[in-house]
Amino acid sequence: MPEIVLDNVSKKFGETVAADGLSLSIKDGEYVCILGPTGAGKTTCMRMICGLTQPDSGRVYLDGKDVTDDPVDTRNATMLTQSYALFPHMTVYDNVRFAPQIKGWAPEDIKQVVRSTLHMVHLEQKAEWMPAQLSGGQQQRIALARALASGSKVLLLDEPLRALDARLRINLRKELRTMAKQMGVTCIHVTHDQDEALAVADRIAIIRDGRIIQFGTPSEVFDDPATPFVATFVGRSNILTGKVVRSDGESTAIDVAGTVLLARPSPMEVGEEAVLAVKIGFTRISKKQEEIDAAYFTGTIDRVLYEGVTITVEINAGGLGLISSKLPNRKFDDYHAGDIVGVSWAPSKASVFRVPPEGLEKELKLE
Ligand SMILES: Nc1ncnc2c1ncn2[C@@H]1O[C@H](COP(=O)(O)OP(=O)(O)OP(=O)(O)O)[C@@H](O)[C@H]1O
Ligand SMILES: [Mg+2]
Repeated sequence: MPEIVLDNVSKKFGETVAADGLSLSIKDGEYVCILGPTGAGKTTCMRMICGLTQPDSGRVYLDGKDVTDDPVDTRNATMLTQSYALFPHMTVYDNVRFAPQIKGWAPEDIKQVVRSTLHMVHLEQKAEWMPAQLSGGQQQRIALARALASGSKVLLLDEPLRALDARLRINLRKELRTMAKQMGVTCIHVTHDQDEALAVADRIAIIRDGRIIQFGTPSEVFDDPATPFVATFVGRSNILTGKVVRSDGESTAIDVAGTVLLARPSPMEVGEEAVLAVKIGFTRISKKQEEIDAAYFTGTIDRVLYEGVTITVEINAGGLGLISSKLPNRKFDDYHAGDIVGVSWAPSKASVFRVPPEGLEKELKLE
């Protein structure tokens, strides 16, 4: 049963803290995405699981066994690195065949697994090509096929779809998840792409400064972010700060620059400084007079951005700053720069946080 447990693991490189008391527990057969800004410690986390990096302290368990001091080749974990080195002197087919062959699988099993993984990455026609004859994206897909064919029960994929164009990424990410589930492997997939993580993961771990900030299902992380950083890192949010003026079982009311805004219930007390976060897709706007009257506040549309399926309307709301609202693109003709709109949201869609001790600006910074 390939469950993965990191227990209070720390790792420093000189003065740089790459893992800071990191704990993570991944279930057998689970598909987990790790999301986080660059330098957050994502690669280090994966390298400690497969044994390429030794933690300074803390323990690593695979299948309930403490493997912290075990060498790489005994761990039954395969890592697809960010640089996906292929064997340059071997054909695509032989690259993918390499691991199952070393493991002494039966020839027909090897053939079957090589064919099915090459099929998954849409490169069965390139089986006899050499890596140097392939594009960067094709090489990446071969490396992915090779990792899938390795027979390991733990797959660690460090940005496996990074070099691919948008459509192929979207196709492959679905197939990757399906294949991992069919093979019964436990998979960790590092990505910078929040849509990718939301689409494929059973659970998403948000990592920052070597620590897990939140570990939850895609909807938990999106709808109920643990911190203001998560609220802005996974899906865009409007962020407002103010003082709590009422807090009860129904909602938290926050006075922001003289305007009272509602958020979901919280343990915050009257008088406390609070941060309110509401996803731009949950921010409603209207030009109808009765809805303007019922709105939290009004503003003037600054500009309307066309994004294909959606549009984003940016509203200048005076003392509240610039507020964005994401709408379906059929609304494109309804809103124009200069229009006055009322802005509101369902209180249950807005999160409320204490002001982070190091200040909000530092909390929201990406690096
Ligand atoms: N071998 C190393 N020697 C020195 N510093 C390192 C080493 N490996 C990682 N670091 C540092 O540790 C921190 C975490 O690095 P890591 O590669 O784990 O980040 P990451 O989240 O994978 O980033 P990216 O998204 O850019 O790949 C960074 O500040 C990095 O510079
Ligand atoms: Mg990395």
